[in-house]
Parts: sequence; C-alpha cells; structure tokens
Amino acid sequence: MTTILKSLLPQKKKDGADVQILIAGEEHIPYVQTILDTIEAAAKVRGTGIAKRTPEYVEQKMKEGKAIIAFVDGEFGGFCYIESWGNKQYVANSGLIVVEKFRQHGLATRIKRKAFALARTMFPEAKVFGLTSGAAVMKINTELGYVPVSFAQLTDDEAFWRGCQGCINYDVLTRTNRKYCICTAMLFDPAKQKDKKEVKEIIKDIKKLLK
Ligand SMILES: CC(C)(COP(=O)(O)OP(=O)(O)OC[C@H]1O[C@@H](n2cnc3c(N)ncnc32)[C@H](O)[C@@H]1OP(=O)(O)O)[C@@H](O)C(=O)NCCC(=O)NCCS
Repeated sequence: MTTILKSLLPQKKKDGADVQILIAGEEHIPYVQTILDTIEAAAKVRGTGIAKRTPEYVEQKMKEGKAIIAFVDGEFGGFCYIESWGNKQYVANSGLIVVEKFRQHGLATRIKRKAFALARTMFPEAKVFGLTSGAAVMKINTELGYVPVSFAQLTDDEAFWRGCQGCINYDVLTRTNRKYCICTAMLFDPAKQKDKKEVKEIIKDIKKLLK
C-alpha cells in the first residue's frame, strides 16, 4: 500500500501503481453507482448534505466527455465532472471525490487539474467557478489560479443554486438572498487570470485527443 500511495504523488515517477486520470466515456458507465455511493458516503461523514445527482445525470456527463475518472491499479480512485451555467458563460467542476484510501497523496489535485483543463478546452471563454468549504479544494483551486470572490460574482442561473438545496446550510443562503453562505466562492476569469504551464500542457493533450 505504501508503494501505491507514494506513487500517487503528482510529480513523482510512478514506482509501482498504475495511476490513470482519464476523460470518462461510455465504457465507464458501469462505475456510476460506485461513484454515487462514494460521494454519498463522504457527504455523510462530512455532515454537509449533498447535491442530488441521478445515475442518468452522471451517465450523461460521461457520454458527453465532461467527466474525469481516475484509476489506481485498475481500481476506481476518484471522479469529477464539469457543467456549464448561465448560457455557457460560467463553468464549474462538481462532484469531486477521491476514495478514502487514496487520499492525501495528490490524486484530487491531478483529477481537478484535468477537469479544469477540460473545462478550459470545451468552454474557453467561460469563467470557471466553484463553491467549497473544503481546505483541500481551496488549495487546489488557488494553485489553478482561482481567486476568492463574493457570491454576486457567480452565475445567477437558478439551476446552479438549486444544487445547494440538499446542503444543511441552505437556510443561510436563502436568508441572505444568496449573498452569503458558509462556502467560499472561487473564480477563474480567463480575461483576468492566466492558465498555468501544466494546465496548458494538458489542454494541448486534450485537444489532440478530441481531434
Ligand atoms: C477533498 C478530497 C477530494 C481531497 O482529495 P485528496 O486526493 O486527498 O487531495 P490531494 O492529496 O490532492 O490534496 C490537495 C491539497 O489539499 C491538502 N488536503 C487534503 N485533504 C485535506 C484536508 N482534509 N484538510 C486540509 N487539507 C487537505 C493536501 O495536503 C494538499 O495540499 P498541498 O498541495 O499543500 O500538499 C477528498 O478528501 C475527498 O474526496 N473528500 C470527500 C469529498 C469532498 O469533500 N469533495 C469536495 C467537495 S467541494
């Protein structure tokens, strides 16, 4: 196990485990239930509530090439998908999850980096944003160039905000007319921020793949 986990470190040469960070496709549909179960179990542990996602919704993301799935030695390791809002002016990475035994070794960083690069490839003009209360995600977002913003700078697309309904803090959001809540809002505005070198490289690879 130690060897496997060491090999997950993003910059280190793989020395045992085979870590794959892939754009999900139809062939990954059999993992949908495992993904949803893993997300649900993690939300219970965190006590945060959960944005409702049906198996069909996640399946659709895979069919559209808008999801990232990770495997460690062939075993499901993590997941994330992208969705666009406000007439494609905004794009968000959602549903980030890493299987507990593979955490703390850079796997989420790699998944999120690829999901971010995918979002930048598919929606190059869109602002990329996220709402999070997790320190790990804040760190990852900061590395990608996101900056903290007020809620007013996010999409006003009702469908996005409906995703907050399952959260235990939803009353705070509604009480403040969607101006404040417990989560930190973070935004990457392509007009203001530049993609990091490693993101540019992944974008190049994705473009080749999508040709
Ligand atoms: C959040 C989550 C995806 C992180 O996965 P991970 O593979 O352990 O993350 P990484 O190893 O890439 O860590 C990224 C950074 O966050 C830090 N970090 C990881 N978990 C952390 C935690 N629980 N608290 C504080 N910092 C944390 C790491 O040390 C690392 O920082 P560094 O770059 O300075 O070393 C994983 O814990 C998870 O699936 N949690 C449950 C679901 C969840 O919270 N999803 C996010 C919803 S917004």
